[in-house]
Amino acid sequence: MSRSERLVPAAAALLALALTGTACDGGVRGTPGGSGVRDPYFPQAGNGGYDVTHYALTLDYTPKGRHLTGRAVITAQATQDLSAFDLDLAGLRVDAVTVEGKDARWNRAGQELTVRPRDDLSKGETFRVTVDYSGTPRTLTDPDDSEEGWLPTADGALGLGEPVGSMAWFPSDNHPSDKATYDIAITVPKGLQAVSNGELTDQSDKDGRTTYHWHSGRPMASYLAMVAVGHYTIKRSTGPHGLPLLTAVDPTQAEASAGVLAKIPEILDWEELNFGPYPFSSAGAIVDRPHDAGYALETQNRPVFPGPPAISTLVHELAHEWYGDSVTPTSWRDMWLNEGFATYAEWLWAEDHGGPNAQKQFTDLYDGDDEAIWAFPPARPSSAAHISDSPVYERGAMVLQKIRQKVGDDTFYDIIQGWAAAHRYGGASTDDFTAYVEKKAPDHDFGEIWQDWLYGDGKPAHP
Ligand code: TRP
Ligand code: ZN
Repeated sequence: MSRSERLVPAAAALLALALTGTACDGGVRGTPGGSGVRDPYFPQAGNGGYDVTHYALTLDYTPKGRHLTGRAVITAQATQDLSAFDLDLAGLRVDAVTVEGKDARWNRAGQELTVRPRDDLSKGETFRVTVDYSGTPRTLTDPDDSEEGWLPTADGALGLGEPVGSMAWFPSDNHPSDKATYDIAITVPKGLQAVSNGELTDQSDKDGRTTYHWHSGRPMASYLAMVAVGHYTIKRSTGPHGLPLLTAVDPTQAEASAGVLAKIPEILDWEELNFGPYPFSSAGAIVDRPHDAGYALETQNRPVFPGPPAISTLVHELAHEWYGDSVTPTSWRDMWLNEGFATYAEWLWAEDHGGPNAQKQFTDLYDGDDEAIWAFPPARPSSAAHISDSPVYERGAMVLQKIRQKVGDDTFYDIIQGWAAAHRYGGASTDDFTAYVEKKAPDHDFGEIWQDWLYGDGKPAHP
């Protein structure tokens, strides 16, 4: 339906005119899309009124001076009639905004970049918004005091984004409930590399600078988008079924990383056996020097590590490609669907490789004296400052062990593989998960597990 064909009932039109005060041009009259998607932990994250299908980012970064210029071309579909909509962008300077090629008005308040297109957009319409921006990207500090966003390193920078830091380097619908495909082109001074998600589709030199084009053809949450600029030793190889692997390692970390990174094919093989087919068209890892942020992150296709990872950490981050990256929580409240599964992957790896079995890990935690694990239930973190605490990771893994105890190994592996298949490339909630488990094992009663282990306060009475 074209915009002019769309009939607006007279009363609604008058109301919209009164609300927006825009001139009547015979087109649709929408309302603003809203500045968030009511995430219980990050209420400003994401925006209402549209869904993004594709981000085309063209970035140019010079480490000396820390200067970034960017153009984001965002393709989205309106989910309501829109007079205005927001993007999330923290810091930087906005130089120009167009919608469907026409200059748009915009203003900024905190992380909200509000765009008012010349013509209102109608529900269902696909539109393109282009944002030109520049400046020195910020490092953001999260409620738990960890750092994300743009992290300058000794010879470049890392752009990371869990939970909300991608808005420090590109404007977006910055919430895991809206996944999209990406093309990320990054230009850096010649001699430096720029690595991102997906596959390298083009590399070219011009005027002393090199441009790297990275393509992600599978939907990705904004928190999993990444760029790594610096000197890296890049190695290509293949994993299971000829899967292209790429590792990028800071030269100072290369020697210490070689042994563990050589295990990627074996780990992916083992994870496919346990979790089902690897969901993406390439894999690998980035190892940078230890930096202030100090954590590993499961960026899509290629997790980032601050120094050579322990094998358990590598197993954990690669497991996220199934649980988190392919099947993505629709709210930050559902983080345990990421971290409980990735922690459980570590337990399973140990079980299958001469270490303690998962039941022993469970019992040790249950009998141990680390009380922090009982601070809150996995599916109800006490606040945004605690979404990466042990109740989400370890107690989240304990929920899975409880399910395994109840249903036995065959059904348990069916459940974890089936879960990855059922929501591949999509999003899911804790409710989706409990419903899925109940459907796969209809003869069992999970009421107590959900009540005591997933949602219950304090330490459950029985292990
Ligand atoms: N997701 C990372 C992991 O466990 C850890 C992490 C890094 C994280 N930054 C975060 C978790 C921000 C929550 C919020 O592999
Ligand atoms: Zn994790």
